[in-house]
Amino acid sequence: MNDSLSNNFIELEEKYGAHNYHPLPVVLKKGEGVYVWDVEGEKYFDFLSAYSAVNQGHCHPKIIKALIDQASTLTLTSRAFHNDILGEYEKFITEFFGYDKVLPMNTGVEGGETAVKLARKWGYLSKGIPKNKGKIIFVQGNFWGRTLAAISSSDDPLSTNDFGPFMPGYEIIPYNDLSSLEESLKDPNVAAFMVEPIQGEAGVVVPDDDYLFKAYELCKKNNVLFIADEVQTGIARTGKLICCDHHGFKPDILILGKALSGGVFPVSAVLSSNEVMLMIKPGEHGSTFGGNPLGCKVAMAALSVIKDENLSKNSELMGNYFREKLNKYIIKSKIINLVRGKGLLNAIVINDHEESNTAWDICLRLKENGLLAKPTHGNIIRFAPPLIINKNQIDQAVGIIIKSVKGYE
Ligand SMILES: Cc1ncc(COP(=O)(O)O)c(C=O)c1O
Repeated sequence: MNDSLSNNFIELEEKYGAHNYHPLPVVLKKGEGVYVWDVEGEKYFDFLSAYSAVNQGHCHPKIIKALIDQASTLTLTSRAFHNDILGEYEKFITEFFGYDKVLPMNTGVEGGETAVKLARKWGYLSKGIPKNKGKIIFVQGNFWGRTLAAISSSDDPLSTNDFGPFMPGYEIIPYNDLSSLEESLKDPNVAAFMVEPIQGEAGVVVPDDDYLFKAYELCKKNNVLFIADEVQTGIARTGKLICCDHHGFKPDILILGKALSGGVFPVSAVLSSNEVMLMIKPGEHGSTFGGNPLGCKVAMAALSVIKDENLSKNSELMGNYFREKLNKYIIKSKIINLVRGKGLLNAIVINDHEESNTAWDICLRLKENGLLAKPTHGNIIRFAPPLIINKNQIDQAVGIIIKSVKGYE
């Protein structure tokens, strides 16, 4: 293997790029299905899927065809004019997820920002919250991006240190704690409660089975909007179309991103009712690229692939199989405490402290053995392969995981 080729690319990034990431030392140049290849030609299972953006697999031919066809016809009009794709997409996505209206954006964090703005508008205009007193409740461990609005709700010092001052009107309560929520909802100025059904970046933290539904009921009782941040958990990742489907309720505001484009480029969406969505009037919110015809076509193709290939079901079945196989090994492992998750959003928790290098060191071994994954904390490794993965590939991947952990032990 000619590592110096990789090193050239790594050095370029180091020299000319900001140092705001700490990637695993692998330089990728090609992707297809569940696999990626590095510049030396080594093949890997992709067990990160670009943080769940590549749910449909790398370079899915139907999504890439939609991209190429539309890219050679019309890419961007801005919302100053109508285009012949946006309405078709809006009808498609609202029917797909069962909502009245959609507001198209680009990145996940813009989706979150849009949801917070919508909730504030609704709070003032519909609920009657006094001007500038509106409050949004978040939970500890949340992650919804890197803008100031997003990090203002973060309790992770790495995200917040030296970036203040922060957005007012937020309250952060413990995750998976209904009595804290009940207490906070007593404030009549609360417009919304925003939560990830499973906390992805926090380390695939799955709340108690009844938490989300009861939280939703509490919100209803107090005339508060329930915002589900399904940027990572949505689009079949957890074995249902959206994670809230496991719990039998429909969030008032649903935020989607990442796999909405199959990882082709940033497409996000906020879905809600007429009542909430029509609070925003022309000129009050928008984005140059939001709702561009290219993104709309790509998103329709990406969602069609989820449906046509039954990827929710495959995610559920393969996720169960993955955890079952790994659990058999974990009983004997000296260093893995637990595998947790739903569908194909899973993580192993290592018997070490959060700031340790264990997860990183194991990820280096996984890489050497042909599987790419990334720690979410010093002691947690997330496993989130593309949802098209089959049983035979899971068998091979679990073999690699066990070999790598054993090598470390
Ligand atoms: C749950 C959740 N929400 C929002 C975001 C932000 O998405 P983006 O990086 O596309 O802005 C992320 C990104 O990891 C996420 O995991």
